[in-house]
Amino acid sequence: MLESIKTKFATIFDSEPTHYAFAPGRINLIGEHTDYNGGYVFPAAIELGTYGLARKREDNKINVYSLNFEEKGIISFDLNNLAYDENHDWANYVKGVIKYLVASFPSINQGFDIVYEGNIPNGASLSSSASIELVSGWLIKSLFDLELDRLTLVKIGQKVENNYIGVNSGIMDQFVIGLGKSEHAILLDTGTLKYDYVPAYFGDYVISIMNTNKRRSLTESKYNERRAECEAALASLQQELTIEHLCDIDVATFERYQYLIDNATNLKRARHAISENERTKQAHEMLSNNQFTAFGQLLNDSHESLKNDYEVTGLELDTLAETAQSIDGVLGARMTGAGFAGCAIALVHKDSVKALEQEVTATYTEKIGYAPSFYHVNISDGVKSLN
Ligand code: GLA
Repeated sequence: MLESIKTKFATIFDSEPTHYAFAPGRINLIGEHTDYNGGYVFPAAIELGTYGLARKREDNKINVYSLNFEEKGIISFDLNNLAYDENHDWANYVKGVIKYLVASFPSINQGFDIVYEGNIPNGASLSSSASIELVSGWLIKSLFDLELDRLTLVKIGQKVENNYIGVNSGIMDQFVIGLGKSEHAILLDTGTLKYDYVPAYFGDYVISIMNTNKRRSLTESKYNERRAECEAALASLQQELTIEHLCDIDVATFERYQYLIDNATNLKRARHAISENERTKQAHEMLSNNQFTAFGQLLNDSHESLKNDYEVTGLELDTLAETAQSIDGVLGARMTGAGFAGCAIALVHKDSVKALEQEVTATYTEKIGYAPSFYHVNISDGVKSLN
């Protein structure tokens, strides 16, 4: 892939790139919609991701080009005008990163050209946007030799989503894409940002990624709505409890104080976040003790909670997860990421992978009208230079 992007760079910009980088995508094993509630998440970076090749220019122009969106052509802007521009489409993720980097690093004083190519399926909830943010930040760090640590870059990526793009996402995606480690998942406490690398060892089982191939719509507004509902539930609990986040309390405490939340929807949202946080801690323990069956059951419970209490699954994700759960050799399955569309994951015995794909494809296609896709990928390192 790198060679063909290099060739393309030379054709488009009539020069050779000087810096190459790669940022992965991610799956989340469990701990969904907990990262803006101060809870635990358990994601892993994956080998699908975004390549970026760059070179400094002599002027203040920034030109970006994506081989995934060739129809959009070269998107150009000036180092001195980095405001969000709807016409700049996907390049706004890049512009946002540049804007916040320039604010902290005046040494970014000339323009550059970047060519991107990614192999994360679009809209698949595998974090293609965080991947492009991080690969861009990494390239700029390398081009200008910035003293920029990974965590700061991660926080800049989140700030781009929150303040520039307008999605109030948590820190999970950028964190695992910035700090991921091959063959490991990360157990991250989003309340404190303390984290542990946990071997992603599943014995005879593997993680299958199943894509609904559903076009996402309204995901961002529904995401922001869920976050607002959690905040409202927190405010209700704070009438009696001194807590900063929903996930500061356990399920037993929640049950004692849930009468404070009079809005039925907000109550369900809080119940999901708080129970999911407990499941995530348990899942970490199960995985560390090679208790794969119990780990799989937690995946199923997570999906059910996301379906009934958090209401972010929908027919496509439910069909994937529930069909997978019914197949011999599958220990558990759940949606992964924000939900509404995108992907689910299944923990499946390596001898049952074919059966899983065949049965899920048959049931899904009959019910939904088109086929799902499957991916088997290794767990990868975080963003890195390739030269
Ligand atoms: C998206 C967001 C994350 C997280 C997940 C849900 O991926 O970017 O911050 O909230 O949804 O767990």
